[in-house]
Amino acid sequence: MRTVFWEDNTLKMIDQRRLPGSLEMITCWTYGDVEQAIKNMTVRGAPAIGAAAAFGLALAAQGSEARTTLQLFSDLETAAMLLKASRPTAVNLAWALDRMLQAIRDKLEGITPEEIRVFALQEAQSIANEDVEINKRMGQHGAALIDDGDTIIHHCNTGALAVVDWGTALGVIRTAHDQGKHVHVLVDETRPRLQGARLTAWELQQYGIPFEIISDNMAGYFLHTGQAQKVLFGADRITANGDIANKIGTYMLALAARDNGVPVYSVAPISTIDLSMADGSLIPIEERDPDEVLGIQFHGERIAPQGAGARNPAFDVTPNRLITGIVTEKGIVYPPFIDNLIEIMRK
Ligand code: MRU
Repeated sequence: MRTVFWEDNTLKMIDQRRLPGSLEMITCWTYGDVEQAIKNMTVRGAPAIGAAAAFGLALAAQGSEARTTLQLFSDLETAAMLLKASRPTAVNLAWALDRMLQAIRDKLEGITPEEIRVFALQEAQSIANEDVEINKRMGQHGAALIDDGDTIIHHCNTGALAVVDWGTALGVIRTAHDQGKHVHVLVDETRPRLQGARLTAWELQQYGIPFEIISDNMAGYFLHTGQAQKVLFGADRITANGDIANKIGTYMLALAARDNGVPVYSVAPISTIDLSMADGSLIPIEERDPDEVLGIQFHGERIAPQGAGARNPAFDVTPNRLITGIVTEKGIVYPPFIDNLIEIMRK
């Protein structure tokens, strides 16, 4: 089952807030429904929200009553603006929406509004289908980095749930496992929303890949005592110099890995690379509701005393000097990232 898919003129998605307790689907009838689902993290993970937003634009086209192509396009621009604002850090969201708008813009002449509606859905389907192929290719490239017997520390959830299907960093682990390599995963629980303990653990169980959950503050211990040979995570935005925004806690993990000489790989599609930004200081960092920190996400139990405040940046930026390599669908990029990211994008 895909994380997001089109059925009966609606967008269906796995409700990731309910996992691992229950596997439930939700239905989006309008682009407003998609915007809400992205905001409240029913769907999450950079490529997954990109694909969801692309289908959101198809829903906007379907729902628009415009009778002219120009009016319809203007409705789509409005919808895209709203969808883009739903989460600021992952560039895949803007990438998917810009690709949709550009593809439609290129077709505008001599086409009816009805044909645009059909085309918008086709383009969204292409984005979703390509995402699966891209993940499989990243899996192949990245699996070459994994040695038989490796213990890998993995942060957040980068599996099938974070994309349309297969996964980025977890996709690499799955591919290595399918190739017969014995891998063991130390799953960072990933406070505050517990994407590791809830979602990554759930996925690994189904794939039959051995794992143990650790709290985020244990990673340094396992790295320092030689109990982990690789660190793998995804990315929400990679700037021109190779700085990487990813789930909060990634920076500390990469620092501890570097201090102990453990290689650090980020696995991300080309659509996560944002050459318009020179470095990570320019990346907008989403700050979420403090209640996510003050309570446990899942059962919603409050752990902090009444009246306590909290900060909740959802992402941090890992400087390029801490990254060993970036695995993309076109191959693995090594430093100097400033030259080699441009090179791989030209390929
Ligand atoms: O807040 P989330 O759960 O959407 O954050 C997801 C991550 O940080 C992932 O590591 C990232 O999107 C890359 S994996 C496809």
